[in-house]
Amino acid sequence: MSTAVKDPAPAKGPAPLWSALRELPTNVWSSIFRNPLPSTDLERASTSFTNFFLHLHPVKVHRNTLRPGYTLGLGLISLFLFVILVFTGVLLMFYYVPSTTQAYDRMLDLRSTVAFGVFLRNMHRWAAHGMVALVFLHMCRVFLTGAYKKPREFNWVIGVVLLLVTLFMSFTGYLLPWDQLAFWAITVGTSIAAYAPLMGKQIQFVLLGDTTVGQEALLRFYVLHVAVLPAVLTLLVAVHFWRIRKDGGLSRPEDGEARGAVPAGMVQAGVVKMRIEPAVESAKRKIYGLQGFVRGPFTKVGNVPDDSVYSWPNLLMAELFVLVLTISAILVISLVFNAPLEQPVNVMHPPNPAKAPWYFLGLQEMVSYSAFWGGVGVPSVMVGLLLVVPYIDRGAAGVGRWFARERLLANTLFISLVILNVIFIVIGTFFRGPNWAFVSPF
Ligand code: HEM
Repeated sequence: MSTAVKDPAPAKGPAPLWSALRELPTNVWSSIFRNPLPSTDLERASTSFTNFFLHLHPVKVHRNTLRPGYTLGLGLISLFLFVILVFTGVLLMFYYVPSTTQAYDRMLDLRSTVAFGVFLRNMHRWAAHGMVALVFLHMCRVFLTGAYKKPREFNWVIGVVLLLVTLFMSFTGYLLPWDQLAFWAITVGTSIAAYAPLMGKQIQFVLLGDTTVGQEALLRFYVLHVAVLPAVLTLLVAVHFWRIRKDGGLSRPEDGEARGAVPAGMVQAGVVKMRIEPAVESAKRKIYGLQGFVRGPFTKVGNVPDDSVYSWPNLLMAELFVLVLTISAILVISLVFNAPLEQPVNVMHPPNPAKAPWYFLGLQEMVSYSAFWGGVGVPSVMVGLLLVVPYIDRGAAGVGRWFARERLLANTLFISLVILNVIFIVIGTFFRGPNWAFVSPF
């Protein structure tokens, strides 16, 4: 009796290639997005953690971070305006030539031959003005809520540099259309730099690449505007956000701190041991919660927020809302108002008065009283004060609340200086006529 061994029966079901093709969409999708739409807390945390973009956020944030009335979304709007500027700026670069003989004609081309050219230019121009204003307002919010205090001193310093870079970026862009407005605004702006003691003329020469505004200046401003400054700003914004994470999230009122975020140093040193014990316990519990996701030592133990919510979907939805609002505002403004374009440059016919961009008009107004003090002395003192304020104002009271009573003096001084600056800008914009004489706008 022979026992013939039979071949195993071929596997039932579709051929491997066919099944791979059938599952292609699912496999591609799940290779990018590792988690389904989250429905449990674990999945929410895991979604934030495994997605590159969401990973910029912490898994959980303190409730105070989401209060629209606290941040007013000003930092976020500044960021989104910068993103809009990069996007529209790259598109504009396809048409622009940084040459004194071609730049203005290219502006006219945007108006007449390029599809949506005017709209693109409007968006870029209004987003740039908006960013200067919003970054300034964001700084005011941070000051008035005392959010520059320990441990956020250095992030405030990075912020001050961000403000200066933002101003410089807008200023360098101002020259590029090469019309009368651009030429004379930059002539005035760079002549203010020349008032600096000892090095003034040299600084002006480095900026312009010449003794007057011309081809060299246009090329330098262009390179600074499209490459150097955006790269510096991107790097600084990345450090700014990284520091927010390292500083334990956004500032918040003291009662939140007492309940949920006990500074690790205080715990180790045994300070206020009795009073914060429940908070320490709660912080410890949090550590166990987070160890599922974070590898390596987690040094910011004390800053784990207690009164917190998951970033997905709470923070994400709030951010998307601000994004949509920002884009909509810029779109509407760009539909209604056209960016100015004056006559082509005529070096023989300066407008009278020749005015700097609006955000430097306060400086120009002060220069009309004293060239050195207005152009160099006062601005340097102001920037110096902004840089050192978190290292001088050390009291911990009143952090995380608008206009806290404990910060009455600091807030009053700050608001007075802001109002003074605004008054100077308004005078320079509306009340100055030929030869910088006082005129009534009415
Ligand atoms: C390009 C400019 C800037 C961008 C894109 C930016 C973005 C942001 C964002 C998104 C936040 C968190 C949420 C919010 O407060 O809206 C923030 C927080 C912060 N920013 Fe800025 N910022 C900029 C400039 C500045 C400036 C000029 C300062 C101050 C001089 C500053 C100081 C701070 C500080 C200290 C925090 C932490 C605030 C807190 O903990 O409550 N930033 N920034």
